[in-house]
Amino acid sequence: MDFDSIRNDFPTMRTDKGVYLDSSCQSLRPDSVIRAVMEYYESYPVCGGRSVHHLANEVSIRVDETREKLASFFNAASPNEFVFTKNSTEALNTVAWGLGLRKGDCVVTTDSEHNSNYVPWLTMRDSLGIRLRRSRSGMDGVFDIESFKSAMGKDVKFVSVTQCSNVTGCTVPIRDVIEIAHDHGALVMVDGSQAAPHMKVDMRDNGADFYAMSVHKMLGPSGMGLLYGRQEALESLRPRLYGGGMVGLVTYQDVDYAPVPDRFEAGLQNYSGIFGTKAAIEYLEKVGMDNIAAHDAELLKYMHEQTQDIGGLHIVGPEDPSKRSSLMSFNIDGLGAHDVAMMLDAVDGIMVRSGMHCAHPFFVSRETEGSVRASVYLYNNRQDIDRFATALRKISEQFGS
Ligand code: ALA
Repeated sequence: MDFDSIRNDFPTMRTDKGVYLDSSCQSLRPDSVIRAVMEYYESYPVCGGRSVHHLANEVSIRVDETREKLASFFNAASPNEFVFTKNSTEALNTVAWGLGLRKGDCVVTTDSEHNSNYVPWLTMRDSLGIRLRRSRSGMDGVFDIESFKSAMGKDVKFVSVTQCSNVTGCTVPIRDVIEIAHDHGALVMVDGSQAAPHMKVDMRDNGADFYAMSVHKMLGPSGMGLLYGRQEALESLRPRLYGGGMVGLVTYQDVDYAPVPDRFEAGLQNYSGIFGTKAAIEYLEKVGMDNIAAHDAELLKYMHEQTQDIGGLHIVGPEDPSKRSSLMSFNIDGLGAHDVAMMLDAVDGIMVRSGMHCAHPFFVSRETEGSVRASVYLYNNRQDIDRFATALRKISEQFGS
């Protein structure tokens, strides 16, 4: 695979806007995705699924084609198993609030979730009286299956776990987790925000009941997410948003809800985002998820080699880069994470994320204030890592303790 020519497909790279190492937050987009978004506004800037005129039909066809592409890319049983959302957060909330959980029902998570996979459950604990348990990882964030098993019990109705931590990059063996959860009679949701951009995800193989993704982390337009749900699992959910487009016939007395996935897509949709989603998936398919995973792993290993002797650098997560997917979280002794991030930007235009990465409980429980996070993707190369390592070394030598 020619990753140099891939880099050239991204306008941000062609125009040298600096070194982008913040793809875990949001990815850059290739020309084809930008063109697809523009195609919507230039050629078919109308509503899908409602009007019967020719422009509207073009939009409806493309929406259907996008779902078909998603089903084949993720090996789902049907295109109807994909709901368009605005991000993973909306996908996770759609499921959490749609399950109809009651007082006493138990939900199990891990200790390495994004806030989006804690806040809905904590809010439901306070408003509905559900109970929460979590599996515990070691200080380095590596998932512990024994701890997960001991969190499970007959009272567990639902398991909601990240496939890959946005802080440590550690992955969870979701097939094993799903099998254990199903043996206990619990349904499972996977937060795939950080996994789906970087590795092959096969819905029929992993057995997830629900799987949440942020398309803007996988080359797609900003403000686009996906909820995958096994058809029966989706059908068991109550919708969260009510209005046009999610119904069959409404009378003054009654509502007849539309079948899934329309039931979860009330109101006009983000059609340009849906056009861009199809282009993003096509791009990922063309490059190949196994090639992307290998490229990310190679760069992360190189990053480790180039930075491991920098004074005062501590990895948040496992030292071994092969245990981290696509990112390195770290701190430099004597410096705050935001200070390091701002200095990296000032020294050589290096863009990273800093702070608690919307995963507050992980840091609060470890009594640390955050980390700097450098994340790579298919458009990064070794020169990016060299520039990052040189700037970081300079910062550590001049300002670290
Ligand atoms: N959840 C995103 C991140 O980790 C925003 O940066």
